[in-house]
Amino acid sequence: MAFTEDLREASEIIRSASAVTILSHIDADGIASEAILREAVSRLNIQTRSVFLRQLEPLMMKWVPKDDTLKIFVDLGAGQQNLIEEHGLSDDEVLILDHHISQPSNIEYRQVNCLPYGIGKLSAAGIAYFVAREMDAGNRDLAKLGVVGNVGDMMAREACGLVGPAREIALDGVTAGNVRITTHDLNCYGLSTRPIHICLSYSDDPIIPGISNNPNGAQAFLERLGITLREPDGRWRVWEELPDEERRTIASAIVEQLIAHGEPVNRIFGESYIFPDEAPRSPLRNASEYATMLNACGRWARPDIGSSVCTGDRDLQYRKAEHMLRHHRSVIRELFQYILDTGVARTDNLQWIHTGDRFPDTIVGIGAGMALSKLDWKRPIMVFCTLPDDPEVVKVSMRTVERVVARGIDLQAALCEASERVGGAGGGHAIAAGAYIPAGTEEVFVREIDDILARQSSSCAENS
Ligand code: C5P
Ligand code: C5P
Ligand code: C5P
Repeated sequence: MAFTEDLREASEIIRSASAVTILSHIDADGIASEAILREAVSRLNIQTRSVFLRQLEPLMMKWVPKDDTLKIFVDLGAGQQNLIEEHGLSDDEVLILDHHISQPSNIEYRQVNCLPYGIGKLSAAGIAYFVAREMDAGNRDLAKLGVVGNVGDMMAREACGLVGPAREIALDGVTAGNVRITTHDLNCYGLSTRPIHICLSYSDDPIIPGISNNPNGAQAFLERLGITLREPDGRWRVWEELPDEERRTIASAIVEQLIAHGEPVNRIFGESYIFPDEAPRSPLRNASEYATMLNACGRWARPDIGSSVCTGDRDLQYRKAEHMLRHHRSVIRELFQYILDTGVARTDNLQWIHTGDRFPDTIVGIGAGMALSKLDWKRPIMVFCTLPDDPEVVKVSMRTVERVVARGIDLQAALCEASERVGGAGGGHAIAAGAYIPAGTEEVFVREIDDILARQSSSCAENS
């Protein structure tokens, strides 16, 4: 069956439901997915209820209702169909929309998943959007949330931005009038909200000598180029509002700076996705900052707030989201600094650190990813941490970079295999994955992963 046929089937299943429960994941992609579906389903006057889950795992199954609603699992479920089956849900009350690898179960649940078709990188929100568009072409305004999900799940990492079906979604957003694509833009965080020199100083991939992590250096650099940092009324200017000519001047000078230091140039550029219907200078103004705000809500246990923001709240819930965003970023910065200051242990094939109970398990993976840009990118990073509510379980997060995945490393496969050996369970993507394992097995686990990574790189070398 083709992907489009799966979309049609999913659309029909939803249209014929009398009530829907949406079960989604707490990260930016999960929240955007939930909001797309909730909005599309409500527009049909079908009653919906949403449940957000940190993971679909045995302890969380109690939140999955046993009632007569259609249960739509989104951004989770594909890898846990056996759990859904054990929970007693039948085929006709379940629909899975996911972009994670499917694990077989006795019951074949109805599912839309981009992986079997090899149609290209797509987030769960991307799949949810395609289903919503299939339900009603008038749902094209929701493409914007599909873009947030795609960017939140790092689908736009390369200079060419979102490609394949993810690009189709961005273009739908352009047609709907609430997305603007800026090609060859600067690939830095804070293009819409941060003073230009702060935004430049956030660049960590590539490192711009004298500018990265150095706001004063960045300020001096801009002043040398004759760029005014403040508006006449004293406000800081932001990159998004600079005229093209000034952007070009800055970009050329950065390129010169990178070339002079032998740093790669291409990763400094990327595409950005601006939302012209959002207030200028707000974190909702571009997809990357929007996604970070949703992550902040989800990872700090209030995905419902992020969800309200997605469907239009710009009042009380939005102010709470802003507050969580500030908190989120400051804790991630602290974690990032902690990893760099403490240092990681190295084996032949990975680098790892145990952060104990210092940081919540929901953010260690994010900190790991950011720290990797300052460490040896060739070796995947693994972070262990304890769980506040369960001393017997340790959380593992791993991150690597695309160049390493291209050489045959698959963290999802590695974590699944190793965690099964120690009595835990894991999943995720080749580039970013996580697991829960029994406390006390960390050392064995490091050795297992080290062996698996060695095997993955040698089998890739053999095949190439
Ligand atoms: O599967 P899950 O959506 O929760 O993955 C979230 C994490 O995986 C995020 O840290 C995201 O950046 C990362 N990810 C990634 N590349 C992908 C997919 C996910 O880095 N292609
Ligand atoms: O979960 P994932 O690994 O994608 O997490 C990366 C998160 O960190 C994203 O939400 C991204 O927007 C955020 N980030 C940030 N500041 C940076 C770089 C990334 O807040 N300088
Ligand atoms: O938690 P973290 O951000 O490291 O998760 C990275 C990826 O691994 C996500 O896609 C998440 O859904 C997945 N994961 C999983 N099983 C776990 C923990 C994380 O599938 N036990």
